[in-house]
Amino acid sequence: MSKPVILTGLRANNDLHIGNYFGALLPIIDMAQRRNKEYQINLFIPDLHSFTAEVDHNTLQEAIMQNLRVYVAAGLPLNDPDVHIYRQSYIAAHSELTWILDCFTGMGEMKRMTQFKDKAKKDDDRVSVGLFNYPVLMAADILLYGADYVPVGDDQTQHLEFTRDIAERLNKKFGNLFKVPKAVQEQHKFFGKDQGLRIKDLADPTKKMSKSDETGKGVIFLIDTPEASRQKIMTATTDSLQSIKPDPVNQPGITNLLDILALLALVSSDYQINPRPLNGYAELKTAVADTVAIFLNDFQSKLKEVDDNGIFNKLEISEKLMNEQADSTLLKVQKAVGLRP
Ligand code: TYM
Repeated sequence: MSKPVILTGLRANNDLHIGNYFGALLPIIDMAQRRNKEYQINLFIPDLHSFTAEVDHNTLQEAIMQNLRVYVAAGLPLNDPDVHIYRQSYIAAHSELTWILDCFTGMGEMKRMTQFKDKAKKDDDRVSVGLFNYPVLMAADILLYGADYVPVGDDQTQHLEFTRDIAERLNKKFGNLFKVPKAVQEQHKFFGKDQGLRIKDLADPTKKMSKSDETGKGVIFLIDTPEASRQKIMTATTDSLQSIKPDPVNQPGITNLLDILALLALVSSDYQINPRPLNGYAELKTAVADTVAIFLNDFQSKLKEVDDNGIFNKLEISEKLMNEQADSTLLKVQKAVGLRP
């Protein structure tokens, strides 16, 4: 790990959507394309995290493969020797470090995690211990490689803060064990943002767009047909104020549509709508639907061209190297806690 590391992972529980794309995928791929000389890029599949939510075990392998194809279609340069793709479960150190970190983590700390609280509220009995301590596994994912920067959407910032806390806690007790990831504000600045990103559900813009949404009505998946996405956008929930301006409190639906438009315009000048005044919500929705359709067409034609063999070859190289890097951190920790001489 001679270069500083930028790292992130996206679960393969369901198809990825534009929230995942803009919140985590694009920021790391942008760095892999522009700053690859300076950084090691780790874009992995947190496959062990899959079981923290409902998952179809029979199709998980295909879902993992599909996520990897999405990484490549989104522009991840696999031919760069400092860009790595890997599956968490192929690197045993993730699970092993998690157990050690678990033993230095308070129950109260985990109970306070918003994601856990939200999900636990819904169905206490079916909430697994895995969901309860998954921020610890996430901390292990990050600390094993000494990552400085971790692009994530707003919903994961609490877990990032926990990663910093547990790293500092163990560093205090055992000396300099872990590299502490940069503070969240610094991360936002690094990725050119002032705050974390949270794309909202189109049908209910008071909650985030989420892959675990059962209906998928308010979620634009990267593999949606342009017609399906148009339908979702045209029926998006708005308000009765008839004013097109960002106002997250009073107009979350309109603000969300404007955000999506602005994010797409950042990706490519092809996705910039003509600078014409938008008269009314129907025109705004049409502009968003048109822009999203162009984006999805482009993205899906790249997805079709992805070569699976290139992915398998890269996995083999990356997983070997990542095992070496992760094992070296784990050994340091094992020695510090008295498990190794
Ligand atoms: P996951 O798989 O739920 O989501 C993947 C990434 O997408 C971001 N995201 C969003 N961003 C903006 N708007 C949205 N509506 C939206 N929905 C999701 C998430 O914040 C995330 O960055 N625990 C993580 C995966 C993980 C991980 C890690 C990430 C495991 N280990 C280590 C970074 C580092 C998760 O469940 O993300």
